[in-house]
Amino acid sequence: MQTQVVIIGGGPAGMLFAEMLHQAGIDSIVLEQRTREYVQGRIRAGLLEEGSVHLLRATGLGARLDREGHPHHGSMIAWAGRSRFFIDTWKHTGRRMTTYGQTEIQQDLFDAADRRNARFIDEALDVRPMDAATDHPYVTFNKNGEAFRIDCDFIAGCDGFHGVSRASIPLSAIKFFEKDYPFGWLGVLSETPRLPDVVYANHPRGFALASGRNPMLSRYYVQVPMGDRIEDWPDERFWTELKARYPKEIADAIVTGPTIEKSIAPLRSFVAEPMHYGRLFLAGDAAHIVPPTGAKGLNLAISDVFYLSRALTTHYRDGTDAGLDGYSSTALRRVWSAARFSWWMTQLLHRFPGMSDFDQRAQESELDYLSVSVHAQASIAEQYAGMPLEGT
Ligand code: APR
Ligand code: PHB
Repeated sequence: MQTQVVIIGGGPAGMLFAEMLHQAGIDSIVLEQRTREYVQGRIRAGLLEEGSVHLLRATGLGARLDREGHPHHGSMIAWAGRSRFFIDTWKHTGRRMTTYGQTEIQQDLFDAADRRNARFIDEALDVRPMDAATDHPYVTFNKNGEAFRIDCDFIAGCDGFHGVSRASIPLSAIKFFEKDYPFGWLGVLSETPRLPDVVYANHPRGFALASGRNPMLSRYYVQVPMGDRIEDWPDERFWTELKARYPKEIADAIVTGPTIEKSIAPLRSFVAEPMHYGRLFLAGDAAHIVPPTGAKGLNLAISDVFYLSRALTTHYRDGTDAGLDGYSSTALRRVWSAARFSWWMTQLLHRFPGMSDFDQRAQESELDYLSVSVHAQASIAEQYAGMPLEGT
């Protein structure tokens, strides 16, 4: 087979990249190792920056997002024993946030791919990017026991944190920056009315977050110790713990009911530099992971593929490679800004095992400062709303 760009990974980064390339008249093939149904079924985060909403709209993916997404003016932070405050992105930046599940975006992307008869190959096993350091890269894989090879101009590694793309880069050509956190998030989806606001809580029992997917679908998270398993968290225990972490008036407003999905995810910060090796370019979780506090992961995946599609568009249209040469440094500025912000929000809102009394007081003082300082609130709102894309 032959194409201009082989995209490894059919998550939001890979599928959106294929759509953006198609709009620019660039041909691609997406290789996904799982089944389409599996990729579609995964429940992930769902808070979009306005810049991400604009990019999705500009790529023809705005119709259902505009109908079903929930635009709002910011999020609330509550913490034990004190008043809560609002991170007002609308007031401080003129930008809104929108809750719309990644699951829905994935559905919209598959629908768009179907409409244009895109080449999407799922259950592609043993995918290997080859000769990326040369001008003639190719990708091999197996499907249904048969071996295939695709010759291409470029390879896009959109295969997430555990993918093969980053792992194929010689260690001498890439550097990793990492930070682990000593807890995870237990996430729950339930068919109950969501709270009117996204509310983060810092409580002596640990972090909690209330979000939603639509008026009758809530998404909640609680910080849990490393090593906890789903079986440790029957519904009853989850709801009791969630409510215990919110001030009474918010806890009283939470409607409980049977949960329809439950998962535990570790928290991690990870950045790979540079985000390319020869003609292999990394985008999304393949290149970086941020802890979910602040919901930057999906937004970064969207901005990466925007930068990369713009660079490839000028490569094919004008024959200039300045965009491709600058892709990594341009993308990394935004990646590091989000990595720093997500790390900071994680520090601010979680109870860390072994925190000293001093650390605890310092955290409380920072929350105190944020709740009274309009300057501090403007700074957090600006970063929460998302730094602008360069060159737009
Ligand atoms: N070959 C082919 N496909 C692969 C391989 C491989 N060796 N390894 C992984 N994949 C696929 C996965 O099955 C997955 O569908 O690549 C896809 C990567 O998708 P995501 O993990 O969703 O990553 P990305 O598209 O970058 O989206 C980032 O997802 O994890 C969240 O917070 C993150 O919201 C952000 C978004
Ligand atoms: C979500 O809706 O899943 C969500 C919202 C805000 C976050 C993280 C996740 O910071």
